[in-house]
Parts: sequence; structure tokens; C-alpha cells
Amino acid sequence: MTEADFLPKTYSGKIIHKKAGWRAPSNIALVKYWGKREPQLPMNPSISFTLDACATTTALTLEEKKSGERFSYEVIFEGTSSEAFRPKIQAFFERIGAYLPFLSEYHMVIETQNSFPHSSGIASSASGMAALALCLMDFERQLKPEMSDTYFYGKASYLARLGSGSACRSIRDSLVVWGNHKEIEGSSDFYGTAYPYDVHPVFKTYHDTILLVHKGQKQVSSTAGHGLMEGHPFAEQRFSQAGENLTRLQPILKEGNLREFMGIVESEALTLHAMMMTSTPYFLVMKPNTLAIINAIWEFRRETNAHVCFTLDAGANVHLLYPEDEKEGVYGFVKDTLLAYCEEGHHICDRVGLGAKKV
Ligand code: DP6
Repeated sequence: MTEADFLPKTYSGKIIHKKAGWRAPSNIALVKYWGKREPQLPMNPSISFTLDACATTTALTLEEKKSGERFSYEVIFEGTSSEAFRPKIQAFFERIGAYLPFLSEYHMVIETQNSFPHSSGIASSASGMAALALCLMDFERQLKPEMSDTYFYGKASYLARLGSGSACRSIRDSLVVWGNHKEIEGSSDFYGTAYPYDVHPVFKTYHDTILLVHKGQKQVSSTAGHGLMEGHPFAEQRFSQAGENLTRLQPILKEGNLREFMGIVESEALTLHAMMMTSTPYFLVMKPNTLAIINAIWEFRRETNAHVCFTLDAGANVHLLYPEDEKEGVYGFVKDTLLAYCEEGHHICDRVGLGAKKV
């Protein structure tokens, strides 16, 4: 599908059901998206595990339009009317208006909540934008009843991407690629697609325990961080490295080689943070406890040979990745050693999920 396929020509149906609801999960990248160009297109391909427990549930109701503004809407976050999300949602509507012309005909009431605490330092933009995009597609499907599922989910991912890049990987499937990669059939800069090749069963039940090291707001937003990849002295090498890491991952994902998997995943996480530390201006979002956890993981691995590794998003929290059949040993290690480094011992036990669900 190309961009033009997502611009509607004519609609044959009518919007009868004016309320839609979706629960969309968060995702954790194995090969990271860091650096973008207009309109929110990635500078390199990325791949992520879809999560299960960390999710946003959104209900969207269309009402009669009251104001003359192009987009009329209100946001109710966890039961309370909220202004905080307006700038991001306004920018989202402006970007997607041409793809969903009916948006400007209604007043939209967006009621949204996260399964994780707002102050946990876990970004809700991926799950939030994915849930909202899916609700919007429920309305478009009524206008275009002949719409296929491939189109429905493809366009949901396309729209979600325009809200937040990584959101396009939070629509469906467990292992999702975003960004054109010459060896990955169907991969696109415009939307996320299911990783199309064989995946060893070990990865289908992988665990992700999220260690909440620092629950405050990030000092530098992801969007600002992406911007600093422009003119970054290592940008070109980094973008090609991401593509190479995806190539290297293919036999690993097929064969279930966990040692090599851990090597790529940890290197990707540290490279992401190395890009932050070497941009102008430079910044650093890891905390002393992030490093303490990384060192403790390495030590535990030396002692036990466990297949546990870490990855990081653009913050201080640590995602601990490990296979289902090692969960007792690893979780024991989490409780005995790692929780001491978490803010008030807070952590979230998550695992690979299947994608968004209609509610
Ligand atoms: C480090 O998708 O949050 O988590 O497109 O500006 O909304 P915007 O950024 P965002 O960036 C995510 C960056 C990352 C890596 C990743 O998820 O691939």
C-alpha cells in the first residue's frame, strides 16, 4: 500500500455507531528507531516486541459539532478532563485530517486510560496513539464497508505513525517491523508490518519485566532526541548499523540463538544512549541505578549463564528480557537483587502480546 491508497476518494456508507473503543499495547524495540524525517518517517528500520500488560484503552465518541474550529474535541484522561494531551492530539489531527475528512464534521470526546501509572515514566504515546487511530478506523470502516482487514490495520498503523512513530508498531502481531528493509518483504517506512519470516517459539512467550528506576517526566522528549540525530556526527553509521542488525537478527529469530539475540539487543540499547550522549547538545537519561542494574545483570549472567538481557527506551527504566522457561530463576534475581534499584521497588511484569483488541 502506498500513501495515496490511504487518501479516501468516495464513501458509500454512513457512520451509525458513534462510539468506538480499543485497547492498544505498548511495544519495546529490539532494534531502535532513533532519527526521523518529515512526515514522521524513520531514518532506519526497527523491530519490536508487542507487549501485553502495558496498554492504553481509549473510547472515542462522535457528537454534534459545537465550535467552528477545524477539529473540535475534548480529552478525558483517567476520568478527568485534561489539557495536557491537547498539543500532541491537535498536531495528530492536523496531520491525519486529509486521510479522514469526516473528523472535522464532529465533536470528538476522547476518554483514555493507561494500565500503568501515569507517573511510571513509561511513555504512553505509542499505545495511546495506536488506540486512538484504531477507534478512528472503526468509523472509517462504517463509511467504507467493503474495507479489508489488511487495509483497516495498515491504515491504523499509518495514522498511528503520524501521531508517534513507534505507535505504528502497536497495532497487531507480536513482532513488528517498521521501516523499509530490503530483505524484509512488505516492510515500509509508512506503517508497521508483521515480521514475515519464521520465528522460533522461544520468542513467542518472551518476558519483559520493566524495572522502574525513575518515575519522573523525561528531561528530553523522544521527539527532541530524534531531532538531534540531524547533523549528528555518527548518524549515517548508526542508520546503516540498524539495518545490519536487522539482517543479523533474521537467522537468530529463526533458530532461537539467545546468546546472539542478547548481544544485538543490548548493543542496540547502549548505542541508542550513546547517540544521546554524543549529540549536540548532549544529554544522558540513564541514572546511577540504570547502570547498577546493567552491571548486576552481567554479573548474574556470568554466574548462572541465564539468558537474561536488558534493553532501554529513551529513559532510565530498564526492560529485562528473558524466556518463559527461565522465569523462576530470573524473577528470583529481580526480587533479591534488582528491586532495590527501583523507585519504591516498582516494576511491571509484562510479556510478548498479540496486539490491540476492540473493547
Ligand atoms: C527510543 O516513537 O516516542 O523508544 O515519533 O517523536 O513520537 P516520536 O518518538 P517515539 O520514539 C521512540 C524511540 C525509542 C525507540 C523505539 O521505540 O524504536
